[in-house]
Amino acid sequence: MSSLPDTAAWRSLTAHYAELRSVHLRALFQDDSERVTRMTLREGGLRFDFSKHRATDETLAQLVGLAEERDVAGAIARMFAGERINVTEGRAVLHVALRNRSNRPIRVDGRNVVPMVSAALAKMRAFSDRLRAGEHKGHTGEAISDVVNLGIGGSDLGPRMVVEALAPFAKGGPRVHFVSNVDGADLARTLAPLDPARTLFIVASKSFTTQETLTNARSARAWLIERLKEDAAVAKHFVAVSSNADAVRSFGIDGANVFEMWDWVGGRYSLWSTIGLPIACAVGMDRFEELLGGAHRMDEHFRTSPLSENIPVVSALLGVWYAGFFGAASHAVLPYDHGLRLLPAWLQQLDMESNGKRVRADGEPVEGYTTGPIVWGGTGTDAQHSFFQLLHQGTRLVPVDFLAPIESHYPRGDHHPKLLANMIAQAEALMRGRTEAEARAELGAAGLDEDGIDALAPHKVFEGNRPSTAILFPQLDPETLGALLAFYEHRVFVQGVIWGINSFDQWGVELGKQLAKQVLEELEGGSAGDHDASTRGLIRAVLQGRK
Ligand code: F6P
Repeated sequence: MSSLPDTAAWRSLTAHYAELRSVHLRALFQDDSERVTRMTLREGGLRFDFSKHRATDETLAQLVGLAEERDVAGAIARMFAGERINVTEGRAVLHVALRNRSNRPIRVDGRNVVPMVSAALAKMRAFSDRLRAGEHKGHTGEAISDVVNLGIGGSDLGPRMVVEALAPFAKGGPRVHFVSNVDGADLARTLAPLDPARTLFIVASKSFTTQETLTNARSARAWLIERLKEDAAVAKHFVAVSSNADAVRSFGIDGANVFEMWDWVGGRYSLWSTIGLPIACAVGMDRFEELLGGAHRMDEHFRTSPLSENIPVVSALLGVWYAGFFGAASHAVLPYDHGLRLLPAWLQQLDMESNGKRVRADGEPVEGYTTGPIVWGGTGTDAQHSFFQLLHQGTRLVPVDFLAPIESHYPRGDHHPKLLANMIAQAEALMRGRTEAEARAELGAAGLDEDGIDALAPHKVFEGNRPSTAILFPQLDPETLGALLAFYEHRVFVQGVIWGINSFDQWGVELGKQLAKQVLEELEGGSAGDHDASTRGLIRAVLQGRK
């Protein structure tokens, strides 16, 4: 594969950037009354306004040219065809098969996986229906009131975020809790108010080797047995979600209580799989299938739309544009929706674990461009009173995604109009900024004399020209949420294709895990081993300092 900077499209974009870098968005809007119409794309009820981006028709055409040169269409086709595009792990990448509501066959090595997915969904439905109806009884014959998901990373962030986002739909179900951290405080605080006789644990781990999850699962099992006084209680209070059936069995969970997943589902792409069991428990299987349905609609849009009208593709290309030419090191995600407050955390894993790579899929180093951005964010309006200063007047360009529902699940006085007004105003302020003349006029109107105006005006100037996408949707329901999340998954994929990296492995997490094992042995054994002086000093400080 040719290096990205050597492509004709990249060279042409380099020249185009030199022309466009000093053009202000204000001017682009002034010169073009049709800009919003042309640059707004819709899918279902979702409306993506890309007009506040530092891009012209020419920019978009050139970016689409880049996508063509990098064969994005071919890569999309290969993913949906079940090819082993995760080359370093030799795996297919088929989260789209998990939500294939069309029954169109999707094959891995010639085998249609759709019936396997349907069977897993049926098992989830049977289990979650019984649980929600109070028919799944615990060891003492009581119905389950609380479900605790024990997982981390992709086995936690996705279901946790969705359960939070769909809280308005969780009527009549159990309370669902999430414990991820190996810090004992997480489990202890979660379990403290719970009744073991009415608590069910879901041990969620694709590999079933993850230290944090297995540690929490062992402690949860000990807590249960200690209180219910019988080892046999585990059978009614523990289920597992994993692709490693043997490890689950040796942990002591009965095969009948295992929900299967497959190696072609990446951890951070797995909320659509049986890893979504806590979602089904919280909101019911019908709502879970609506979530899948929304994602499937976005998948179909992604699979079939021309590149220039393809929402994940356009969004991805704009991200590549800012990272490659404007030096943007990060991307901020700002939901104006309390229910989406965990979206940035989910997206951090999705994007940063997928595209935080310095070596290309072909093993060559990434040179002459940067890959995945630092993804961060927070909810509006809280974030406005925290880090927006840097977005408006800092020295770095941070592209932003604003997201908001037009209707709230909690209509109350004028809360929601105020929320929306803030989002719309922030996007406008980032784009327009405030010129020196405007700043001076405002200060003059406020009664300042010339000296006062001279002193303050520079601080009151906002250069503006700061790009954002505004994503509006009617209301946050399961279908809309599914479409939104699938949009982000495909955006990450397209960027990985352009950058020439494999978005589906995560070797970068291994070294720390290996070293942690060694350090743990040393902490348990009471002496520091072969390390640098700082690491030995830290180990010794812990050994000497603990009681
Ligand atoms: O360490 C990173 C990681 O492998 C993630 O990719 C994954 O989502 C998480 O750990 C949890 O893995 P598992 O589901 O196998 O416990």
